[in-house]
This record gives sequence, structure tokens and C-alpha cells, in this order.
Amino acid sequence: MSPRPVPPEWEQLQERCEQCNACQLGRTRTKLVFGVGKKDSPVLFVGEGPGQQEDLQGEPFVGAAGKLLDEMLSIIDLGRDNCYIANVVKCRPPGNRDPRPEEQEACVGWLYEQIRLIQPKLIICLGRIAAGVLIRRDYRITREHGQWIQKNGIWYTAVYHPSALLRDLSRRPEAFLDLLNIRDKINEVCPELYQ
Ligand code: URA
Repeated sequence: MSPRPVPPEWEQLQERCEQCNACQLGRTRTKLVFGVGKKDSPVLFVGEGPGQQEDLQGEPFVGAAGKLLDEMLSIIDLGRDNCYIANVVKCRPPGNRDPRPEEQEACVGWLYEQIRLIQPKLIICLGRIAAGVLIRRDYRITREHGQWIQKNGIWYTAVYHPSALLRDLSRRPEAFLDLLNIRDKINEVCPELYQ
């Protein structure tokens, strides 16, 4: 399939996001971490927010969790060049704390705009914060990871966050099964990604 042209809105969106002061996080960040990957990919991954390395480099998932995410992507035969990776919040919460609900709320509009422009068919939430924002406020990652729900024509699922999988090796077998299931879903919903 020939790629969709990247709409000019994309650059304007990032420029506007650079100027955002809807919460305090913009004041303490080094770099905005807008997202990386293919801007018309049918598969979008969403994490919670940048950590220290991401803040320094301006790219999502480039620290230890990012290495594991790259391995997770390779299990489903994907790489950073054929999916898109973004976060719920675009600026680093100081000290790597979780983004607060009001910060998530202030920032999530940028993610919604990214979703509107990317038009993904599948959205994979990395961890409970992204799942709580995009799937359901009271989402329980330990009980519900790997399940699919469809909203407005997009399939959503969640897997354990790579940082959780670094801390707790006992969760890795379940995460592996979730990834195989995601690969099957890609084959069903957007097989062109693998051609
Ligand atoms: N954790 C996240 O959720 N996002 C990143 O970009 C890096 C670590």
C-alpha cells in the first residue's frame, strides 16, 4: 500500500505542542517527547510519559525500558520504522514520578490529535496509565491485559509496561503471550503491515 502523505497539520501540531503550558511539566523538561515512527502506521503504541533519557534525547523509550520495548516489537516483527510510539504526557514528570491525573488531562488532547492524524487500526497501551486514559478509567492491567476492545473503529489492548517487566520477571511469560496475540491481531486487521 502506498503511504498516505504526512499532513502539514502534523508539523503544526508538534510546533503548538512545543509551546504548550497547560501544566507545569513544560517548565522543568529538557526536550519535548512528541513521538517517533511512521505517521500513517496502522499500529500505535502509547506509554505514560518520558523518563530521564527520553527527556534528554527527545525520543520516547530510549532508556532501559526502551531496549525492552524494542525486543517486544521484534517479537511481533515490528520496528520503530513501521509503527508509531507516543506517550500520554509529552514532558517528563520530575524524578520519573507517574504523571498526575491533572497533567494527563492537560496533555491528552495532543495524543487525541495524533490519533486523528495517524488513523491507527490498533492501539497498544503500554501499562495501566495509558490503558486508564485510552480504554477505561478503572482499567485493571493485571486482570485485563491482552484483552481487545473496539471503540470508534479502533481496536485497543494493553500489555504490561516494559518498566514493569524489567522489575518483575514473573510477568514476562504472560506478556509474551499477549505479544503473540497482538501479532495475530495485526495479521487479521492490517496484514499489509507484514507485506
Ligand atoms: N516510559 C514511558 O512510558 N514512556 C517513555 O517514553 C519512556 C519510558
